[in-house]
Amino acid sequence: DKGVYPYYMLKEIDEQVIVAHTLSQYYFDDNAQIQNIDDDIISAIKAADRLYIVAAGTSYHAGLVGKRYFEQWTGIPTEVHISSEFAYDQPLLSQRPFFIFLSQSGETADSREVLDNVVKQGYPSLTLANVMNSTLTREANFALPLLAGPEIAVASTKAYTAQIIVEAILAHAVGNSQIDLKNELAKTAVEMQVIIDQKDEFKAIAEQALRGQRSAFYIGRGLDAAVAVEAALKLKEISYIQTEGFAAGELKHGTISLIEEGTPVFALLTQSKTAGLVRGEIAQVAARGANTIIISGKKLAKKGDAYVLPDVNELLMPLLTVIPAQLIAYYATLDRNLDVDRPRNLAKSVTVQ
Ligand code: F6R
Repeated sequence: DKGVYPYYMLKEIDEQVIVAHTLSQYYFDDNAQIQNIDDDIISAIKAADRLYIVAAGTSYHAGLVGKRYFEQWTGIPTEVHISSEFAYDQPLLSQRPFFIFLSQSGETADSREVLDNVVKQGYPSLTLANVMNSTLTREANFALPLLAGPEIAVASTKAYTAQIIVEAILAHAVGNSQIDLKNELAKTAVEMQVIIDQKDEFKAIAEQALRGQRSAFYIGRGLDAAVAVEAALKLKEISYIQTEGFAAGELKHGTISLIEEGTPVFALLTQSKTAGLVRGEIAQVAARGANTIIISGKKLAKKGDAYVLPDVNELLMPLLTVIPAQLIAYYATLDRNLDVDRPRNLAKSVTVQ
């Protein structure tokens, strides 16, 4: 039931804070130690020489973020693959691969096809899914729940943040993140709420930047590039504004020729290592007339940035940056009088290949 909400998508955006708390309570005990992750899962991952994350759409985008956690905290090289590609062009695998499937529904046919192949080849697998007892959870060796509750809107929101959180918890459980992850996630959840409480700002940004526009861009580097592709998918799939998300350094290799007077370019700026470079890229598109909307972390912010996010651990910033993107997509779509929850041509669960 939507309750007081006009659309499920808005309800589900709001619920991300509760989901973060639920996951923290489920996966950590009172002493901030991991619980509810079987030792067999941990040892199977530790035995691997390479992790293969396989998923589609938004779940694939959550994998792009999770890759950083697995590589940084477990030291195991990690690849992220689109399931519809992997299914018919399986890359050369390492000696001891371990597969991680990410899925809201657990029924995505493209991902099921890959899992079938993986099972036939005898490789170990784990599914992180929101719908437990789904095909992907039943057919993998292991499964862990995303605990996001039913996601009704076609555009995925809370399943994405839940996937990122569970990936972080799993990588932390396997490796040695050297951070108090339970505490960092609690702080992040508080800041998620702060951003969600500022909906009106994103409504204003969406209307100002996107009304009447046919195309838009999201740029960033590193983890911000990973969120940029998800931000672009959110905006395009419900508002029908053609949106590209990509690594900011690629602008000069082609895309910058698309910039015209007033073209909306959303820049995500939360990673200190590359902030200077991204500032340069923002200046370059601005010089060509782009309407730049800068969403920055607090310590990297400058006067005039459109929206300043609270600072949390830089690795967890995707949990914050995606919220403005979700809200901007939501309000841009409302502004066009479109059905936010049911975009044309799309199904919630894609059970055909
Ligand atoms: C976009 C969206 C889709 C799904 C994709 C995979 O908002 O929801 O891109 O992420 O179809 O679905 P699941 O996660 O159910 O495997």
